[in-house]
Amino acid sequence: MKSGILAACDIGSSKVCCGIARVDENQEFSLIGFGQTVSKGIRKGVVSNIEAVTKNIIEAVTEAEVMAGESISSLTINISGDHISSSNSTGVVAVSGKNKEITVEDVKRVINAARTVVIPKGREMIHVLEQHYTVDDQVDIKDPIGMTGVRLETSVHLVTGSMMLLLNLKNAILRSGYSFQDIIISSLASSAACISDDEKELGVILIDIGSETTDLICYYNNAVIYSSVIPIGSSNITKDIAIMLKIPIKEAENLKINSGYAYSEDVDNDEKIEIPAIGANPSKLESKKFLSEVIEARVKEILEQVNFHINKGDLRKRIPSGIVLTGGGSKLQGIERLCYEYLKIPVRIGFPYGFSSVNNNIFSPEYSVLVGLLLLSLEDTKLEVKEKDKKGFFEKFKSFFSK
Ligand SMILES: Nc1ncnc2c1ncn2[C@@H]1O[C@H](COP(=O)(O)OP(=O)(O)OP(=O)(O)O)[C@@H](O)[C@H]1O
Ligand SMILES: [Mg+2]
Repeated sequence: MKSGILAACDIGSSKVCCGIARVDENQEFSLIGFGQTVSKGIRKGVVSNIEAVTKNIIEAVTEAEVMAGESISSLTINISGDHISSSNSTGVVAVSGKNKEITVEDVKRVINAARTVVIPKGREMIHVLEQHYTVDDQVDIKDPIGMTGVRLETSVHLVTGSMMLLLNLKNAILRSGYSFQDIIISSLASSAACISDDEKELGVILIDIGSETTDLICYYNNAVIYSSVIPIGSSNITKDIAIMLKIPIKEAENLKINSGYAYSEDVDNDEKIEIPAIGANPSKLESKKFLSEVIEARVKEILEQVNFHINKGDLRKRIPSGIVLTGGGSKLQGIERLCYEYLKIPVRIGFPYGFSSVNNNIFSPEYSVLVGLLLLSLEDTKLEVKEKDKKGFFEKFKSFFSK
């Protein structure tokens, strides 16, 4: 890493936020700049108005730059939306070297073999995520380099997205005057910020409930085995409240945040909440139970979709660490309880951790994606260093023997 500064932007449906982090010599980072603006050009996780997104990025990044006292040129960003699809794939190669010792090149070849699947026209590869390797008959190997064998097999999790929608996002970044270091799906970023290595090892599902999308990812054996995007989010709850209680969106949002509860069975039948006077309409009392029932119906719809994916991916037996709920939508009161009652899987709320910050507001579930993008871009630079080190090692090894 050249300057020790990392920058990322979470381009969400309700907010666009930017974080700038300084990385110290121990490769630990602290957030030194943060900026946020109300998102105007994203619908259901994808760009619907490039100009608005460009403006949002400039606003958020400039605010973060001013706070950090640093100017940045490159950003790691996220992508979401239900155009994203994923699958698992395998590849096999014969180990090439004379002594049959597996090298970086063999690993690159086998990953290439695994990623060589037919990608439909108009779609682009976003991620090729390593799962594990098999060397001859030895299964579940994480790092095969240096091992000896004849046959090297790997399995990977492939994530693709619409080429056009990716291009729109890239254009928005370029138009705002920055380059992009990497584009990462929201669920992968989010999980980097609030899931522990132990949970990833044992098996866990992360569900990031945003404003207009719910991003899901499952880890098992320290690898991603399933990911998906559900095109419903917490703003659907707000809209339902506005319609059912006949109040404006702004009031419905306040009501959801301040008085909403996701598990209606826990709410007293007689409890009332006050809806403040709106325009010519006087203030009124509404049943808290009714509000809760409206909220519960929509959260259940999201959970039903989650359950669909759990069944589709046959994930239930592979998630002893349960479910981690994060994203702004996970701040809804009672959501943990409803999620547990509905799916009968242990649930916790995921907060981003593993760094220090000038701004304590960042340690909140809606910033899991932003923090994860920073952590992953740090990993990225570490990986580059690791690969260079490995090359250096092989070069030294070769020259030692040629001498
Ligand atoms: N305290 C709270 N209680 C309930 N809901 C909340 C609370 N705080 C935020 N939310 C909801 O969280 C949502 C915003 O979450 P988030 O910031 O993660 O979305 P986003 O990243 O902009 O959107 P997306 O990921 O869908 O593109 C909003 O719908 C908001 O109403
Ligand atoms: Mg989001």
